[in-house]
Amino acid sequence: MKPRSVLVTGGAGFIGSHLVERLLSRGDTKVTVLDKLVYPGRLDTIPSTLRNDPNFRFVRGDAGSKRILKPLLAEVDTVAHLAAETHIDRSILSIASFVRNDFVSTSHLYESLVQSNSNVERIVHISTSEVYGSAQQEPMTEAHPIAPQSPYAATKTGADRLAYSFYRTFNLPVCILRPFNMYGPRQHPEKLIPFFTTNALLDLPLYIYGAGTAERDWLWVEDGVRAIEAVLFADNYDELAGQEINAGTGRSFSINWIAKRILARLGKTKSLLTRHDDRPGHVVKLVSSSAKANRLLGWRPALSFEEGLDRTIDWYKNNASFWKKRRNDKRFREYTRAWYGREL
Ligand SMILES: NC(=O)c1ccc[n+]([C@@H]2O[C@H](COP(=O)([O-])OP(=O)(O)OC[C@H]3O[C@@H](n4cnc5c(N)ncnc54)[C@H](O)[C@@H]3O)[C@@H](O)[C@H]2O)c1
Repeated sequence: MKPRSVLVTGGAGFIGSHLVERLLSRGDTKVTVLDKLVYPGRLDTIPSTLRNDPNFRFVRGDAGSKRILKPLLAEVDTVAHLAAETHIDRSILSIASFVRNDFVSTSHLYESLVQSNSNVERIVHISTSEVYGSAQQEPMTEAHPIAPQSPYAATKTGADRLAYSFYRTFNLPVCILRPFNMYGPRQHPEKLIPFFTTNALLDLPLYIYGAGTAERDWLWVEDGVRAIEAVLFADNYDELAGQEINAGTGRSFSINWIAKRILARLGKTKSLLTRHDDRPGHVVKLVSSSAKANRLLGWRPALSFEEGLDRTIDWYKNNASFWKKRRNDKRFREYTRAWYGREL
């Protein structure tokens, strides 16, 4: 059975909004977004053209609310579970809501799926490369040790293993996708690339943790969303259930490299580069093997990081209203005060 009606939890977030766009563009797929709009989620992350699509529906609520899930799960055949709090720095400042939103809600969602006798036949669980901690071998395959280094990563690891346990114990047809660092338009300006880009546009410091040599494998959001779609619409879905699959590019770039490229593209001075204490528990390097995704899904990323980063910088330059209202939110200012010691 191919998906006809997809429940996207966390669909008002950065990746979710791109997934909604991709699913609606198919023309034959209904999309229900279930999102609690927990900070930084905002409904207007989903462009109004998509929200007005007759195949789109929005429900505000927790991805683990059994009361809300009961009628929804009777109507959909597929679930993409993205709902989570996602900012590592915030999970260091305070972990309680991460445990609730990333771990406890996931347990309730999967329990509801098991108990509901629903028609859901496909579930993609969006995990993260952060479950691995720093690369102990390169490139990192799905067999890499699991060693989360931040509170966020630990709650996501718990959710990742819950998904697996529900497959093993209850035969829940869930496939676990582990994207590496995703970036692109409509990402909240607290996250690294938009934070650096919008700081540069405002002539504010670009804070570099430690020596700035930490490296990540950066995945263009539309490439990542194609990987999610490839799982959901796979002809060989039976082979995917219970599997963990990485999605990354196999290339890594340092924070220093990114900061300098942003400044150069925007014509800003390197004096904006500002050293900051390293983040506790900071992962040194992540770089993906996507051999399994290629073999099982026929998926590979299409856009180079150089091209994707330039497109992203240009998008933020041309869409100031998107990021200005998010930066003006008092919770953004409270966070920068708590984390950087000044309001930004
Ligand atoms: N951005 C990345 O680089 C990246 C990489 C790998 C994996 N991921 C994962 O992808 C998913 C989406 O990430 P994103 O970057 O779009 O994050 P985001 O913070 O932009 O969006 C998350 C969304 O989830 C919603 N949400 C949070 N808790 C909820 C709950 N309990 N119930 C309902 N809604 C809830 C928020 O309101 C928000 O709209 C997350 O699971 C994240 O861990 C992200």
